[in-house]
Order: sequence, then C-alpha cells, then structure tokens
Amino acid sequence: MSDRCGPLVAGGAALGLWLVASIAAAQPAGLDGQLLFNNACRTCHTVKADDNRLGPSLHGVVGRASGAVAGVNYSSALANGAVTWDEATLDRFIANPDAVAPGNGMKPYSGIASAEERAAIIAYLKDSGD
Ligand code: HEC
Repeated sequence: MSDRCGPLVAGGAALGLWLVASIAAAQPAGLDGQLLFNNACRTCHTVKADDNRLGPSLHGVVGRASGAVAGVNYSSALANGAVTWDEATLDRFIANPDAVAPGNGMKPYSGIASAEERAAIIAYLKDSGD
C-alpha cells in the first residue's frame, strides 16, 4: 500500500462513523408514534372509524374487545372478543401477533422488536381513538 492510501482510508472510516451517527440520531427518545404507525401498520390499517383496509380500522382499538369492527372477516383467533386490547396485550401483539392470538390473519407482519417503538405506536392509537 502506498502512503497515498492513508488519507483515503481515514476518509472512508470517517464517512462510516458519520453514517452510524446519523442513523443513531434518527432514533432519539420521544419517538413519533404516527410515523412509526405509518411505516409499520398503515399498509393495512387506518385509524379512521369504519375505514377498513386489508386489516380492520384501529379507531378506538385500545380498550376494546378484538373482532369488534362490523363487516370485517376476522380469523377465529380474533373474532368475537377472543382477546381484549388493553395496552399490555397490544404490546405483546405488536411484538409478535402469534404469541397473543395463534393463527391470526395479520400476515405478512413480522413484529416490532423495540419496546419503545411499540409504546409510541400504542400511544398514537390511544390518541387517535378520541
Ligand atoms: C400486512 C397487513 C397488516 C399489517 C402490516 C398490520 N396489520 Fe394489523 N391486522 C391485519 C389483519 C388482516 C388483521 C385481522 C387479523 C385476523 O382477523 O386474524 C389485523 C388485526 C389487527 C388488530 C386487531 C383489531 C381488532 O379489531 O380486533 C390490531 C390491534 C392490529 N391489527 C394492530 C396492528 C398494528 C398496531 C400494526 C403495526 C404495528 C399492524 N396491525 C400491522 C393486517 C395487518
């Protein structure tokens, strides 16, 4: 390796550090629940009452029984109040739907590992439920 490579290698390392720092900075405390919802859930759900997509409307879901939105063809895992959506149950469901309701039809959805992100999404769902 010639001496000229030194600055290039150093530059590359600095760029790498900058990238890592930028990614870390994009996930601060005080997460944006709406943004997280939009990224992870909105393909299939809205929070508008009666606006069912691939998944049921999540308007007012916090505190209600599962399977309660009229006109939705729920799986038997969620139909007829099989589960009550309190915050703890929602948290587990968003982390891993099958852990709460084996055989549910919320597919493909792979779960959110971050407890902070789940909490932010649940807070957003609560706020948007009136
Ligand atoms: C790929 C589409 C898809 C994605 C992405 C998705 N869901 Fe679902 N969700 C569904 C479907 C379909 C159902 C109905 C499942 C059933 O009947 O078993 C459902 C059901 C639910 C229910 C139960 C509602 C009720 O009325 O009982 C909750 C709560 C829920 N989803 C929350 C979420 C949240 C929060 C996210 C994002 C973190 C999310 N879902 C992402 C498709 C999806």
